[in-house]
Amino acid sequence: MTQRLILGQTLAFDGDPAALGLAAARHMTQGGVVMQAGKITAIGAADALRAAHPDAAITDHGQGLILPGFVDAHAHYPQTAIIASWGKRLIDWLNSYTFPEEARFADPAYAAQIAARYLDLLLSNGTTTVASYCTIHPQSVDAIFSAAQTRGMRVLAGKTCMDRDTAPAFLRDTAQSAYDDSRALLARWHGVDRLSYIITPRFSPTSTPAQLSALGTLWAENPDCLMQTHLSEQTDEIAWVRSLYPQARDYLDTYEAHGLLGANGLYGHAIHLAPREIDRLAEVGAALVHCPTSNSFIGSGLFDMGLRDRLRVGLATDTGGGSSFSMLRTMAAAYEIAQLRGMALHPAELLWLATGGSAKSLRLETKIGRLAPGHEADLVVLDLASTQAIAQASARAEDIWQAVFPTIMMGDDRAIAQVYVAGKPIKA
Ligand code: GUN
Ligand code: ZN
Repeated sequence: MTQRLILGQTLAFDGDPAALGLAAARHMTQGGVVMQAGKITAIGAADALRAAHPDAAITDHGQGLILPGFVDAHAHYPQTAIIASWGKRLIDWLNSYTFPEEARFADPAYAAQIAARYLDLLLSNGTTTVASYCTIHPQSVDAIFSAAQTRGMRVLAGKTCMDRDTAPAFLRDTAQSAYDDSRALLARWHGVDRLSYIITPRFSPTSTPAQLSALGTLWAENPDCLMQTHLSEQTDEIAWVRSLYPQARDYLDTYEAHGLLGANGLYGHAIHLAPREIDRLAEVGAALVHCPTSNSFIGSGLFDMGLRDRLRVGLATDTGGGSSFSMLRTMAAAYEIAQLRGMALHPAELLWLATGGSAKSLRLETKIGRLAPGHEADLVVLDLASTQAIAQASARAEDIWQAVFPTIMMGDDRAIAQVYVAGKPIKA
């Protein structure tokens, strides 16, 4: 099996720099990564790797910065075509733009077309793994997993379940069909190639208690699966949940009471949490997913990054509520939101959130998210001078953090010099 050696600058994290400090990051100006059979087999100094692997096919990325591929921990691929729709807040935005578009996924040909477009957009932005919601239609799950298989990508996805009359009649399942369809999709796809099924109740307002319970049962029957949903994104939404679930202590309790709170739970947004909710999420070891471009675009609020001291936190675009497919743009928004809360996230912390941190939120930290031997060879190579504005700022850099920060703040798909998926380059 051929070995590939890629050369460039490397930045490897042993763990979360927020917890471990900058000692968690190792930078090499002339480094390299060796890949074989889809995995990283070595990382080190360019010269030493060249000498140790004389038969490897070499690609020299020059000053390009080699990082793990970005991991987007929460997105809605069916909302690809309605990204950047103007002027609404969450509930109106769902009704005006999202639900009519999601209805189109009843057509498998449309689902396949958007799934392909979406994954190509991700790769062109350096994202190699995503956890995506689908629509209520089982064929929307088949579409994204088939498109991921074609590209060799590690993708997590699930059928979005909603059966309550708060959702339009043309976009509703039932408690029983949600259970049956999710179970069948899980059996068909979970663990096949690089794919994982995620049990996916959209959020409490669009499910009946019976549906939440049915999905809680399915999760109990498949505890190694992740479960993803939305939690406390907007204050209007929280008031709505209170009126729909008068017995519940708080929003989280609507999940907890139906078997949908657990260590493999992924709770998107989680902005307006009560102390009890934070305590319970921390107690069970759940993960939160921060979606900063969405939170500013839909006007939801400012996520508290201080929660990462108690909980695993992933980073995500939340397209199409989020306004970008790019995890660079998403890191920039995370920086800005933290600044509005009086916290300056270091470039190391931002890069970790978009790679190892998101991988941890998805319980994939032994497979992806780090430049480490044994990890899957999903990599991105960044051009740190991709535009005139970025180049002139990074030219003054005195260290790698100053060199990479202009790309984090101002970079887009032009900064993506190359992407490797399971060791294979996507650009010729
Ligand atoms: N809450 C329930 N569904 C959605 C969705 O599709 N996007 C966002 N941002 N929030 C949601
Ligand atoms: Zn979402």
